[in-house]
Amino acid sequence: MSIHKEVKKVTTHVLQEMKLKGEKIAMLTGYDFTMAKILDQAGVDIILVGDSASNVMAGHETTLPITLDQMIYHASSVIRGINRALVVVDLPFGSYQGDSKQALTSSIRIMKESGGHAVKLEGGAEVVESVRRILSAGIPVMGHLGLTPQSIYKFGTYTVRAKEDEEAEQLISDAKLLEATGCFALVVEKIPAALAKKVAESINIPVIGIGAGNGVDGQVLVSHDMLGINNEFNPRFLRKYHNLYEEMLGAFNMYIKDVRSGDFPNDKEQY
Ligand code: KIV
Repeated sequence: MSIHKEVKKVTTHVLQEMKLKGEKIAMLTGYDFTMAKILDQAGVDIILVGDSASNVMAGHETTLPITLDQMIYHASSVIRGINRALVVVDLPFGSYQGDSKQALTSSIRIMKESGGHAVKLEGGAEVVESVRRILSAGIPVMGHLGLTPQSIYKFGTYTVRAKEDEEAEQLISDAKLLEATGCFALVVEKIPAALAKKVAESINIPVIGIGAGNGVDGQVLVSHDMLGINNEFNPRFLRKYHNLYEEMLGAFNMYIKDVRSGDFPNDKEQY
């Protein structure tokens, strides 16, 4: 029987076993109790409380404005909705770049105040000291390489990263360094599929891709994007499993019509 069907709780150890057995890992974002409950019941392995909440939930243009307090609020709501999934919480911009002590303090706040199971941070060699310090407190860390949205003003564009040899080599070296430091998994975002496959084959921890092809150990998408709630975001890597934008718009339109016409509530919908 496959591992993901057997386990009652997904742990970092389970994810490692899944990689070893060649079982793909399914990860999606979640920011609130209701969505987390559905994601967990569907059997998703990892729920990422991503700092994409800054865009999706709060309407900011980038992930930079979201605060540690806001991430803790989202994460604690998600935790109340789950039984099985591993919940990974993004360390938001400004909560870990200062130094490793700040990174540890922020991670402890996330674990203590939200009940999250692990943290994720963006970057390679430059965050290794912080990764080491967070791990020393017993907190599992997931890395994030490639297009790291907290550095969008440095990149200046959301285009594919590491197409040139130099950046690709740096990325592989960062991936090996994060593994050697003790990260339990790695997200690679928007990099060429061949490079992502090479990364997954070069290290022993699970590599989860977004816009990084099929040669990795698992996939992650922003739930709101794959549900088609946002009809303005249509990158090539995104598969939309629903058109919830149209469905919700239709439902809201019908409700407004029924209220205006006096059709809602009817005799059976009142006390
Ligand atoms: O914040 C987020 O949703 C993420 C994923 C895109 C990997 O980091």
